[in-house]
Amino acid sequence: MPEVMTAAVLTAHGGPEVLQVRHNVPVPTPGPGDVLVEVTAAAVNNTDIWTREGAYGSASNPAAIAGWQGVPLRFPRIQGTDITGKIVCVGDGVDTGRVGQRVVVDPAIFESEAEEARLLAVLGSEYDGGFAQFAVVQAEHAHDVSDSPLTDEQLACLPTAYGTAMGMLERASIHEGEVVLVTGASGGVGLALVQLAAARSARVVALTSEGKQEIARQAGAQEVVLRSSDDLANAITRAAGGPLDAVADVVGGSVFSTLIPLLRDAGRMVIAGAIAGPVVEFDLRVLYLHRRILIGSTMHTPMHFRRLMESARSGSISPVVGQTYPLKRIHDAQRDFVEKRYPGKLVLLP
Ligand SMILES: NC(=O)c1ccc[n+]([C@@H]2O[C@H](COP(=O)([O-])OP(=O)(O)OC[C@H]3O[C@@H](n4cnc5c(N)ncnc54)[C@H](OP(=O)(O)O)[C@@H]3O)[C@@H](O)[C@H]2O)c1
Repeated sequence: MPEVMTAAVLTAHGGPEVLQVRHNVPVPTPGPGDVLVEVTAAAVNNTDIWTREGAYGSASNPAAIAGWQGVPLRFPRIQGTDITGKIVCVGDGVDTGRVGQRVVVDPAIFESEAEEARLLAVLGSEYDGGFAQFAVVQAEHAHDVSDSPLTDEQLACLPTAYGTAMGMLERASIHEGEVVLVTGASGGVGLALVQLAAARSARVVALTSEGKQEIARQAGAQEVVLRSSDDLANAITRAAGGPLDAVADVVGGSVFSTLIPLLRDAGRMVIAGAIAGPVVEFDLRVLYLHRRILIGSTMHTPMHFRRLMESARSGSISPVVGQTYPLKRIHDAQRDFVEKRYPGKLVLLP
């Protein structure tokens, strides 16, 4: 085992300059109950950018420089929530037979196994993640996917994007035959939402931008609406053939208030992101007079993740890898991610 490794080290909240690729970072040692994973692929997510910038704000101050928990991170920190790799060594109490397993890591640490237990920590924020050649994780968070037909790059797309999409669909109880609008449909979470909702036999209307229609259709969208449409509300209602049963939104911003009135009475809007703006205004009457339901969703539960891993093993999902990069090009990957140069997921290969 080498003593040092290459890792992208976050040194403070700030611009790309606070992220430093270093080649002399000590390889971590697994403690009791841990495994050491040699990282083969690690996907890029919006949380990497917002966490680096400290863009999450806090409950009392939306402009506060903070990670997802509403307080600044502790530095130095290695980010990277989405790890695929191989177990190369195990800590005390872990079956040595696990060495050599190909694994995907559940990045979310909950207070308990209860259905909606409190989320305590996330890989890459509260503890070191996958933007490194090696990472230590808890053994039970490393799910064996040795037999999956998916590539390591595809598997690395699953934890955050598909986990979040799975959490949204479960929390909003999306089921067969329902008409569901997915925003940001060409993005990481959006494409996962389209695929997973279509797999439940929901009728998916994808909201996306020019040039991304085909990828949304390939993922399973039956209808595609451009977010630049002149009369967006009408365009969506026409495509949906009437009111929506549900909206799965990761975009927020100005379109939010347009979408709520398009829901049927008692329709559900599940929200897990706000890439177009976190502070929105809407008419409360549109909500309560029609008994519409707003659902906040973050990540997944351990049970959702286990279900996702079953899909990974069976190959019933097919994540779209937009581009791959060696770890030393992490700054290029983050720039391309922010500029939305490629649909699907961007993946680093440490
Ligand atoms: N709560 C959670 O657990 C959780 C987990 C993962 C992500 N998220 C959040 O979900 C959101 C999407 O994440 P992601 O990883 O899917 O990001 P992504 O891959 O960059 O996708 C975002 C997509 O949103 C669309 N979009 C619409 N308006 C936009 C705007 N003003 N600026 C940029 N994009 C815009 C674009 O798709 P089209 O061109 O197709 O419209 C874009 O590709 C982010 O806010 C992220 O923080 C939350």
